[in-house]
Amino acid sequence: MSTVATPVRESVLSLTGINKRFGAVQALSDVSLEVGAGEVVALVGDNGAGKSTLVKVIAGVYQPDGGEITFAGRRISVGGPSDAQALGIATVFQDLALCDNLDVVANLFLGQEWRRGAFIDEVGMEKEAWRLLRTLSAKIPSVRIPIAGLSGGQRQTVAIARSLVGNPQVVMLDEPTAALGVAQTAEVLNLVERLRDQGLGVILISHNMADVQAVSDRIVVLRLGRNAAEFVTSQTSTSELVAAITGASDNVVTARAQKSAQQGAHSKETPDE
Ligand SMILES: Nc1ncnc2c1ncn2[C@@H]1O[C@H](COP(=O)(O)OP(=O)(O)OP(=O)(O)O)[C@@H](O)[C@H]1O
Ligand SMILES: [Mg+2]
Repeated sequence: MSTVATPVRESVLSLTGINKRFGAVQALSDVSLEVGAGEVVALVGDNGAGKSTLVKVIAGVYQPDGGEITFAGRRISVGGPSDAQALGIATVFQDLALCDNLDVVANLFLGQEWRRGAFIDEVGMEKEAWRLLRTLSAKIPSVRIPIAGLSGGQRQTVAIARSLVGNPQVVMLDEPTAALGVAQTAEVLNLVERLRDQGLGVILISHNMADVQAVSDRIVVLRLGRNAAEFVTSQTSTSELVAAITGASDNVVTARAQKSAQQGAHSKETPDE
């Protein structure tokens, strides 16, 4: 049940008919998702809706029971997390997985250190660390301080910068602002915009409707493991989103069509099949 016809830019990642079952729980049923280059797609839904499962399917953590994934025009199967990374699909998981006792450079290149002959290329990595942080306009005082000395927002920044080390085409962020205050949230949302400016496709999971509305181009709603609705962000409202997430309105499409008719607004929406 998709609801909005969207002018998707050149699609970089496309999923159709994705199913995933855990024992008795059908976590995903016939889910589709599309992300364009230079587009931020927010993935929203209540607890247990299947958001993290979908991200883990894309990241190669879980194998889907069925469905197709197309990336950069090619049908792919993601055998594991290293496959996803090699393809150019990066994920910032909610726990960030940074090493507190190591500095920023070491964290950025953990497990993918640059070498110069037999030695680790500290100078090259440090330069590249600054370059990556600059492309994000990130405010990190030094790349030689341990992660433990950084704020929550700065840590999120480092985790996002690390996801860029392999030059990905798609970056997935799972609840990047969940633990952050107002100013730090604004800074992370700025980073998301930098990623979009660089032409990356971004999938943003968030429970915060204000964040989602501030930064996304499109919003995909999952409910009980299924596509429940899809909106162009500039053409939707918080109450409409909440209704789609909770299932409060049985037919979001109808409610939406009525609303835009009332407002006399011209909508790009086309009725569902
Ligand atoms: N490894 C697993 N084993 C068994 N069941 C799982 C597993 N992972 C997820 N599930 C189930 O699949 C469903 C979807 O879970 P998922 O974590 O994807 O939801 P979510 O949308 O990310 O929720 P939240 O907002 O709480 O993070 C839930 O019913 C969950 O209990
Ligand atoms: Mg989750």
